[in-house]
Amino acid sequence: MQNAEKVQNCARTLQSRLPRAFRPDVGLVLGTGLGGVVEAVDDPCFVPYTELPDFPVSGAPSHQGRFVAGRISGVPVLVQQGRCHLYEGRTAAEVAAGVRVTALCGAGSLIVANAAGALNPRFECGTLMLIDDHINCTGASPLTGPAPAGGLRFPDMSRAYDPEYLRLAGDAALRLALRLEKGVYVGVAGPQWETRAETRLYRMMGGDAVGMSTVVEVIAAVQAGLRVLGISCLTNRNLPDCMVPVAVEEVIAAAERAGADLCALLRALLPRLRCSLSG
Ligand code: HPA
Repeated sequence: MQNAEKVQNCARTLQSRLPRAFRPDVGLVLGTGLGGVVEAVDDPCFVPYTELPDFPVSGAPSHQGRFVAGRISGVPVLVQQGRCHLYEGRTAAEVAAGVRVTALCGAGSLIVANAAGALNPRFECGTLMLIDDHINCTGASPLTGPAPAGGLRFPDMSRAYDPEYLRLAGDAALRLALRLEKGVYVGVAGPQWETRAETRLYRMMGGDAVGMSTVVEVIAAVQAGLRVLGISCLTNRNLPDCMVPVAVEEVIAAAERAGADLCALLRALLPRLRCSLSG
């Protein structure tokens, strides 16, 4: 999954498996423990990643590995139920493939959801956090290599997370009386959890949450011209002075519990994103 041609091939194959004339407005990436959010998708059509030529399939726990096309609150969405990661030995181009396929299928916006550890001591487990900005500590970028045919060579990342979408998501949470934090996501390659010194550094750098995904996909999305909203589900606390070993089963369980809140937020928010898209 290195070059534009392969991504185009996947997009063509995916479109041929979807209902004729289906065109997503919004792409949605569901990470660890969040696959249950596809329950919010009406009239779903499932296309396993294995049916798309060379499309990277994740072996990570709780990542289902398929596209789901349908509607949430009437808005056409293309969901990635599961994603692959750098820690699986995937390249940044492979990690970004799903987002690029989604853009080629016509989506103008991307919502990226992940599980993350809370670095901000005021943030509680089980809450959702809007990603206001990110720090890419993975050492990887999907934009290295030959200049892309479409989009900018040096895309601006100063407003990677769409300010209007952040405001609309905040408003939706308020109406739902849903607790929603806002902060900076630090993306790391993993798969090992952080040391105490790393956790302290990420907090000092300005991080509010840390996780092993998202930043590479968001860079690709911005370069492709998508408007981006990022949501972290805070599954564990990651505080240098009282660190406890993290169990991936607990991370998955906490994300699953927060899935209902994420569904409610998406149902309330998506029609407003669409208004904002067309207006
Ligand atoms: N660190 C890194 N990735 C994570 C964490 C964490 O504490 N929690 C969920 N994903």
